[in-house]
Amino acid sequence: MLSAARLSRHVLGGAVAVVAALAVAAPADAGHGSTVGSPGLGDPYFPLAGNGGYDVRHYALDLDYVRAGNHLDATAVITARATRVLTRFDLDLRGFTIGSLRVDGAPARFTRDGQELIVTPRRPLRAGHTFTVRIDYSGEPTEVVDPDGSSEGWVTTGDGAFVVNEPQGAPGWFPANDNPRDKATFDFAITVPKGITAIANGRLVSRRDHKGGTTWKWREDSPMAPYLATATNGVFELRVSRVGRIPLYHAVDPVEVPSGAFDVLATEAEVITFFSDLYGPYPFTSGGGVVDHAPEVGYALESQTRSQYDSTPGASTVVHELSHQWFGDSVSLTVWPDIWLNEGFAVWSEWIYDERHGGPTAQESFDAAYARPATSTFWQRPPADVGGPAFLFSSPVYDRGAMTLQALRTKIGDRAFFGLLREWYAKNRNGNVTTADFVRLSEKRGGRDLHAFFDTWLYQPTKPTTW
Ligand code: TRP
Ligand code: ZN
Repeated sequence: MLSAARLSRHVLGGAVAVVAALAVAAPADAGHGSTVGSPGLGDPYFPLAGNGGYDVRHYALDLDYVRAGNHLDATAVITARATRVLTRFDLDLRGFTIGSLRVDGAPARFTRDGQELIVTPRRPLRAGHTFTVRIDYSGEPTEVVDPDGSSEGWVTTGDGAFVVNEPQGAPGWFPANDNPRDKATFDFAITVPKGITAIANGRLVSRRDHKGGTTWKWREDSPMAPYLATATNGVFELRVSRVGRIPLYHAVDPVEVPSGAFDVLATEAEVITFFSDLYGPYPFTSGGGVVDHAPEVGYALESQTRSQYDSTPGASTVVHELSHQWFGDSVSLTVWPDIWLNEGFAVWSEWIYDERHGGPTAQESFDAAYARPATSTFWQRPPADVGGPAFLFSSPVYDRGAMTLQALRTKIGDRAFFGLLREWYAKNRNGNVTTADFVRLSEKRGGRDLHAFFDTWLYQPTKPTTW
């Protein structure tokens, strides 16, 4: 499912105009009349992530993984719809040997160029045609190093792998249209040696022991961005509980993670109820989290329905990752420079959670963050224009992003503000958004021009003083 970027017609200031222009100047497809799908979707930070000319509906990933030797033997069946006539199209995949590649059952020619897997089907695909690509591939899954130096993708652990893909790790383990604009449903069949647990997104469909090991089948039935897919595996204790009709799958490495992690994960039920009341119904048909021992990762990730923790999280990290199920996973980015729409919302969610649970008020949290002196480098990177992919997860994205929301709350009042958050979610559930969309809805809900307000908070490289 590919939603068209709804980019800014609303020009706030110089910086916004630049971001919007960049995205618009790099259209999703190579050009009018071309039958060659573009190698990227023109993201300003990751221009080659994702591909043009088609729209993925479903991924069926069959993964056979043995940690000893770090070997993955896999088949991916991708169901997609051509958005125009296609004589050639790309997928994103890093590494691996491809054993066979078929389009609609017929062998297709392919070449590799960096992360691009370039496929030439035997016959051109008609516009609107739904087709399947079946790829048999094997080899070592790839860990991807981000522009900020952090590791993602298939990160091996002592007993398996910790699998997290934000922003560009997915092609390290499966062929993808690796862009948050192209969400799809997923089926996973993961075969691992007996004694190993494999945890993907969505609901557990079956678990079967056979002479080749254990096959774990999972299904995520809500559209999901590839960066939110997971297949973390290793020695785990898996516990299933429920909040209302939603099954929660909690997995903890019982050997390497200190006992007590299940107690932290157990708080999810209350947090889900809290955000469901505040923002609107929980977006997905399952939930849960995985606590592994992956010290070299150094962050947690809000994988859809299944937050990934590299070590036992604190209570506020559970709150943070769960709030991303609404903001980030269900309401998704269109372009990565808008990352504050994920992280600012998640930090503000921590603040409001504290406020409503006898902790500091969100205004007190704002005040503490705002107390950074004007000379601090913190103020030099405005959250919606951080200056490049190396700063995607820098503190202004998180804290100044959250401050922007709290400042908006005080400006338009609680009634308008909470209504705005509910409408933002209701309107964009399972969809993709931009900062300009948020500005527009805020102005509608707030009943005023907020041009200068958002420009000050999101785009100016200085500490806001009046707004
Ligand atoms: N989105 C994650 C969170 O805030 C953090 C994250 C994902 C991250 N990928 C990263 C942080 C890479 C640093 C580097 O929950
Ligand atoms: Zn986050």
